[in-house]
Amino acid sequence: MKNVPIRKAVFPVAGLGTRFLPATKASPKEMLPVVDKPLIQYAAEEAEAAGVDQLVFITGRHKRSIEDHFDSAYELESALEQAGKKELLHIVQNILPSHARCIYLRQPDPRGLGHAVLCAEPVVGDNPFYVLLADDLITGDDQGNGVVAQMAEVYARHECSVLAVQEVPREDTRQYGIVEVEPGPGGCMRVISIVEKPAPEDAPSNLAVVGRYLLTPRIFDLLGKTDSGSGGEIQLTDGIAALLEYETVIAYPFKGKRYDCGSKLGYLEATVEYGLAHPELGERFGAYLRNFCG
Ligand code: G1P
Repeated sequence: MKNVPIRKAVFPVAGLGTRFLPATKASPKEMLPVVDKPLIQYAAEEAEAAGVDQLVFITGRHKRSIEDHFDSAYELESALEQAGKKELLHIVQNILPSHARCIYLRQPDPRGLGHAVLCAEPVVGDNPFYVLLADDLITGDDQGNGVVAQMAEVYARHECSVLAVQEVPREDTRQYGIVEVEPGPGGCMRVISIVEKPAPEDAPSNLAVVGRYLLTPRIFDLLGKTDSGSGGEIQLTDGIAALLEYETVIAYPFKGKRYDCGSKLGYLEATVEYGLAHPELGERFGAYLRNFCG
């Protein structure tokens, strides 16, 4: 496989978002805003910053608003233009850089994350690619490098699949894909086993996979042969477990802070911290919080 920049990222967005009902009854969970941007836009920006220019969304029913969000909005743009609201016009016209392309593929029925990724095969083809789960909102490192950019560097050195991981409390292993690792090339951690949502007593470690994956295209063949696993769904984790028999897979402990915006508490934490860091609001919001808590 040639070491070329990875330009495609897959965003599985067909899930039902049941943990946020009723907010997600008619609107996808990926459109929930953190301060003023929907979760899916944070993920798209993180991918773009790493050189991605083809964004492949695996959608389902009720996901039209994601397509609308990344499309031009003529009526809104002309209203903003007429009102002389240049800054807002700039924001809505630059949701994505002009060279970026969005591709929408429909996952006909919700058969799991592995199945969603498999739906991307006709577009991704024989190329390495990223998978981003937008409900994991992750800040970058101190220099502002997002997790996807960090993973791209790991790939440039090792040319293999990379999974972003973080330690989680033992009692939480049922929420994640959990990896077992050994020392790997160049001080990296090589994955030797991976299991989806094990009970704490069965988990091989407390090192959890979070919603950022860099995968080699062999995963498609393997997902095509993967039976339903945990929760009766085709699991990406099971496809990766099969990949381990053929290729090196690295577990990468990313630099940054992750907010689990798939949970209400994580979402509220993200809202508070992104609110405090917001250039227009941060100071006033901080004063409000101090007053409220004090
Ligand atoms: C999915 C994956 C799981 C991974 C997690 C990260 O689970 O199946 O392996 O650890 O994302 O957020 P979900 O959160 O969709 O249940």
